[in-house]
Amino acid sequence: MSISSKTVLCTYFTIAVMCCLLLIKWQCKPCGRPMASTEQISTTRSVSRNASNVHSIWIRKFHEKEFKIFSQNGEDGVLLWIFANIGTVNSPPRFVEFGTENGNECNTRFLRQQLGWEGLMMDGNHDIPSINLYKEKVTAENINQLLEKYQTPSLIDLLSIDLDFDDYYVWKSILQANRYHARVVVIEYNYLIPPNENRVADPFQDTRRWTGTTHYGAGILAMAALGRAYNYTLVYAEKNGVNLFFIQKDILLKQEILGRVPSVERLHVKKPQTGWSHRVEVDKSRRWLWNDTIWIPD
Ligand SMILES: *[C@@H]1O[C@H](CO)[C@@H](O)[C@H](O)[C@H]1NC(C)=O
Ligand SMILES: *[C@@H]1O[C@H](CO)[C@@H](O)[C@H](O)[C@H]1NC(C)=O
Ligand SMILES: *[C@@H]1O[C@H](CO)[C@@H](O)[C@H](O)[C@H]1NC(C)=O
Repeated sequence: MSISSKTVLCTYFTIAVMCCLLLIKWQCKPCGRPMASTEQISTTRSVSRNASNVHSIWIRKFHEKEFKIFSQNGEDGVLLWIFANIGTVNSPPRFVEFGTENGNECNTRFLRQQLGWEGLMMDGNHDIPSINLYKEKVTAENINQLLEKYQTPSLIDLLSIDLDFDDYYVWKSILQANRYHARVVVIEYNYLIPPNENRVADPFQDTRRWTGTTHYGAGILAMAALGRAYNYTLVYAEKNGVNLFFIQKDILLKQEILGRVPSVERLHVKKPQTGWSHRVEVDKSRRWLWNDTIWIPD
């Protein structure tokens, strides 16, 4: 059996298992999510009315698909759902993930171990060549050289960024260089920044990075505006307020579902599911950079 048909079978199998588990969970908590079930009913109706709307279902169903296997939060389920609906282009499918620690808890482990994906992992503290995890300090200045050093194909299926501080600028550096492209991007952000404030923690101010406080990362609007400037659409923010998911706009255009993606405001998570929080930053001199990429309305 070829790797790609194995991958497809594995994907279907995994999704079937996940559906069963979700169904069980659902039945245990019948009144848990009144909003979701209302939306589900109306989606089902619109499908039976108009079969060409069939694709519009999946882009609004992420909240039902979150599932944690090896990811920190529900990223595993979200990524499986995305690729079940947009497929992959490399054979085997390819990823790049940085900020993986030792690779035990990360966004690509399930894809790599169970579905035969291949790719590059980088982390500032860990080096495990047997799984293609290399010790590298990823920065906005060196990221494109690092991708070249490890012979990254120019189009990969998934890019996952988790650097706890300058994620926005590292992604921006990849986008500006225009040499390496990912069909899907999962990137961490700072949910504490309201969705109408386009700001990012200043990574150039000094050498301090994340110090365990609320001063880190980029707000959802800053990330969405950056993605938008390079034709990526924000499609989901997972429930624990940690990750954003982007898909290349072209893919959504081809499926005629771009208009079905909820607004940034609606996608923003106001309260993490597990209730985690950080110490409030007391150093008022720590800067935010505002409006680095302007959100241009349609
Ligand atoms: C079905 O939906 C498509 C896209 O929204 C629309 O263009 C088309 O007119 C609809 N057809 C019917 C029969 O409602
Ligand atoms: C985004 O897509 C538009 C329309 O296809 C294109 O004109 C533009 O150059 C793209 N922008 C970038 C940064 O690739
Ligand atoms: C950023 O842009 C917003 C919206 O255009 C504006 O209201 C705000 O004053 C700007 N902030 C700064 C610091 O320039």
